[in-house]
Amino acid sequence: MSLPYDQDIPCEALLSVATDAARQAGMILTECTRTGFRIEHKQVINLVTDADRQAEQRIIDVIHDTFPTHRILAEEGGLTEQSPSRYKWVIDPLDGTTNFAHGFPAYCVSIGVECDGREIVGAVYDPTRDELFTAQIGYGAHLNGVPISVSTTDHLDRALLVTGFGYDIRETSNNNLNHFVRFALKVQGLRRTGTAALDLCYVAAGRFDGFWEVALNPWDMAAGVVILHEAGGTVTNFKGTPHSIYGRELVASNGHIHQAMLDLLQEDRAFS
Ligand code: IPD
Ligand code: CA
Ligand code: CA
Repeated sequence: MSLPYDQDIPCEALLSVATDAARQAGMILTECTRTGFRIEHKQVINLVTDADRQAEQRIIDVIHDTFPTHRILAEEGGLTEQSPSRYKWVIDPLDGTTNFAHGFPAYCVSIGVECDGREIVGAVYDPTRDELFTAQIGYGAHLNGVPISVSTTDHLDRALLVTGFGYDIRETSNNNLNHFVRFALKVQGLRRTGTAALDLCYVAAGRFDGFWEVALNPWDMAAGVVILHEAGGTVTNFKGTPHSIYGRELVASNGHIHQAMLDLLQEDRAFS
């Protein structure tokens, strides 16, 4: 017999709480840009601000108001094991902290929900453009309520790609610079926005054709991978095998250029 916290919850109900929490956190971020915020250094180039912490607390409060037993994995607070719930919320309260701290308007709130270890719901909110990307498994992906889908670009020569770099860029040789250089010479354009969750959503919306990164965390990807899948995209690790948000690397694309991206990443690996 199922315990109360094991009961099936409709994805719609999860998504409704996720979008409410994402919008409330977005309002906190916007408010902080007006009132100011304190910046602390986790490491030399890795920042955290008051805004990250306030937004995270608000998201957790909103989730626990409705689902008090659900587990939470949040970037700043880590994993809180409330119960052996089947549901885990994976939260990045501010994806794009460096941009935020510099006043560069490219950041978002990212909230994903996992059930039995599978990503089933995602909400990513960009308060600078009032853009809310959402998806629940099996129901497509949406931007502000309008369905979105990936691009049809089928050749790297015509592709606009995006990537990012981890905070350990100075400490490891697996820092993505090799891949960046090789892709730059193969594609129409290459960007580094500084917000991985939005990068995934932009592939979902056809604004980018592909995205890869070597060292992401679960909270960077949990919401975006559901949104991308539901928009018709493909997400794998560098070997082309199924992706896990608990593995660090990710290759995301419109599907058409996926193999070409994998081939290039594999060739680089052979050289390194
Ligand atoms: C970072 C951003 C960035 C990516 C880094 C992430 P944060 O997250 O998503 O685009 O390149 O790997 O750590 O620290 O701004 O939440
Ligand atoms: Ca992040
Ligand atoms: Ca963050």
